[in-house]
Amino acid sequence: MKYHIEFDIDFKRNPYKGLYIVLEGIDGSGKTTQVEFIKKYFEERGREVVTTREPRKDKRSLIGKLIQEVLYGQTGISPIAFQYLFSADRQMHHEEVVIPALKEGKVVISDRCYWSAIPYGLLDKEESVESGAIKRSLVAQSILSFYHQFIVPDVTFYLDVKLKTALERIASGDGAKEIYEDGAKLKRAIKGYEWLMKEFPKEFTVINAEQAVEKVTEDILRRIKK
Ligand code: TMP
Repeated sequence: MKYHIEFDIDFKRNPYKGLYIVLEGIDGSGKTTQVEFIKKYFEERGREVVTTREPRKDKRSLIGKLIQEVLYGQTGISPIAFQYLFSADRQMHHEEVVIPALKEGKVVISDRCYWSAIPYGLLDKEESVESGAIKRSLVAQSILSFYHQFIVPDVTFYLDVKLKTALERIASGDGAKEIYEDGAKLKRAIKGYEWLMKEFPKEFTVINAEQAVEKVTEDILRRIKK
């Protein structure tokens, strides 16, 4: 028996006095580096800043610890169950870190948020972003990631890099590779992000992350000042 379900996507906006900034992009796009520069900018202007990330790496975070083990291939888990872990970690992260900081008027700068669940969550599925099936997947994915429970960032910067650049940056890193740090997977993740930005254009500010680090920071800060 078939059931037809239709629903509107209603993002939960930040009702607090703090500012919620997120950096998104494929692995190797340079998000982590930029977080520190944005932090410095706000601190120099007397704002209190909380830098954070999804998934969490904090040893005290039970689920975050498990996610890191799967990312580094130390533990195996089904791809769908894996995305549920990200959602569970996200829920606790918002409750424990993001919301309290926003309530106190702080600037929260997060390396990834639930946007990542879509391009990465789709990686292990059959559907290609070119086919109409992605819409169905988004519905399934949205249930999976419970995105409507989470506050949407006030601004999301998408660090746009070519696959080749990202792979070069990953190769010059610390050597330990994560499961998604693979050319074919990241190529699909880029397509997932492109689709996401086409569907929700007002939620993303695209930054050319092929440029030198300082130029990327300059571009981000110019948009923040606006
Ligand atoms: P990174 O933040 O160090 O790049 O690593 C996190 C990895 O986890 C990255 O490959 C993206 C992936 N990921 C998901 O698959 N789902 C999610 O919901 C999030 C936040 C990240």
